[in-house]
Amino acid sequence: MEIKRVQTLAFNQLKELPPQFIRSENERPENTKALEGVNVPIISLSQPHNLLVKNITEAASKWGFFVITDHDISPKLIQSLQGVGNEFFSLPQKEKEAYANDPSSGKFEGYGTKMTKNLEEKVEWLDYYFHLMSPSSKVNYEMWPKSPHSYREVVQEYNKEILRVTSNILELLSEGLELENKTLKSSLGGEEIELEMKINMYPPCPQPELALGVEAHTDMSALTLLVSNDVPGLQVWKEDNWVAVNYLQNALFVHIGDQLEVLSNGRYKSVLHRSLVNKERKRMSWAVFVTPPHEVVVGPLPQLVNDQNPPKFSTKTYAEYRYRKFNKIPQ
Ligand code: SIN
Ligand code: FE2
Repeated sequence: MEIKRVQTLAFNQLKELPPQFIRSENERPENTKALEGVNVPIISLSQPHNLLVKNITEAASKWGFFVITDHDISPKLIQSLQGVGNEFFSLPQKEKEAYANDPSSGKFEGYGTKMTKNLEEKVEWLDYYFHLMSPSSKVNYEMWPKSPHSYREVVQEYNKEILRVTSNILELLSEGLELENKTLKSSLGGEEIELEMKINMYPPCPQPELALGVEAHTDMSALTLLVSNDVPGLQVWKEDNWVAVNYLQNALFVHIGDQLEVLSNGRYKSVLHRSLVNKERKRMSWAVFVTPPHEVVVGPLPQLVNDQNPPKFSTKTYAEYRYRKFNKIPQ
C-alpha cells in the first residue's frame, strides 16, 4: 500500500487541510491556547551540586519537564546532527521510501508516517525517522540512513554525548529520591540501557490552528532528551494549562517519561505534552528516548514503598508496558 507522506501533501501547496488532520474543537490549538507569561524550568548543569539536585528534583516532580543548559555537548555537534537530519528529509521521496518502516508488521525502524488513527480518527502532521541508537551490540546499522554519508559518524558521536548526559541526569534524579546515585540507571538495565532516535519532521501546514504535530501524550520511555530547530511548537501540560516551551539554542529539552514515574512511585511526573506546527516554516526535532531493555521488569522501587506510600503502579516488563501502551490497554 502506498503511504501518503505529510511532506508530499505539504509540497503540493494545499490551501486547506485535509479532513483527517482537522482536530476536534476541544483539541484545536486555536481553542486551547497556551498560558501567557509562564516559563518552563531551565536547569544549568554547572550550578553547585546541592542546588542542582534540588532544582532538577523540583522540576521533575512539579513539571516532569525541564530545559538543560551547560551540558557540554558542543554546539557544532548539535548543528551536525541537525544537518544530517535535514539532509535526509531533503532527499528525493523515492530515496526516502527505500527506508519505509511498517509498524503494523512489527518493523518499527525506518522512515514513517503514523497512519493509525486515534479514537477520533485523526492523524498527525508529521513524518519521522526512527531507529535504535544504543547499545551498539543491539543496533542494526542497516536501518540507519546511508545518505548523507556522515549520518552514522555524527549520530554515533551524539549517542556518546547523550549517554553521558543521561547518566548524569539519572544520578541527580536518584540523589533527589535519597537513593544511591546509580540506582535509577541500574533499574533501567545499567550498561544495557537503550537509546532510540526519532527525528520528527513537521512540514509547513496550511492551517496550523486546526492541526497538531504530535497529539497530547506522555512518553513511555524513562527520559526523553530532545533538540529542535529554531521553530517553536512544543507545549507541556502544567496544572490544567498548556505552557509553550520557548526555543533555546543548544539547550536539551528533557521529558520525564512513564518509566521514571513508575520507578519513583509517582514522585517524578511523566509530563503530558504535544507539538504544534507552523504555517510558513518546517519544524524539526531530534528526540532520544532512554528506555530499559524490553525484558527488564519495572515497578515502584522497594526503597520508596512503605505502609504510608503503597505502590501506585503495577510492576511489569518494559515489553509488556509497551504492548499495552501501543494497544491502549490500561496498565
Ligand atoms: C514528541 O514529544 O513526540 C515531539 C515533541 C517535539 O517535536 O518537540
Ligand atoms: Fe513525546
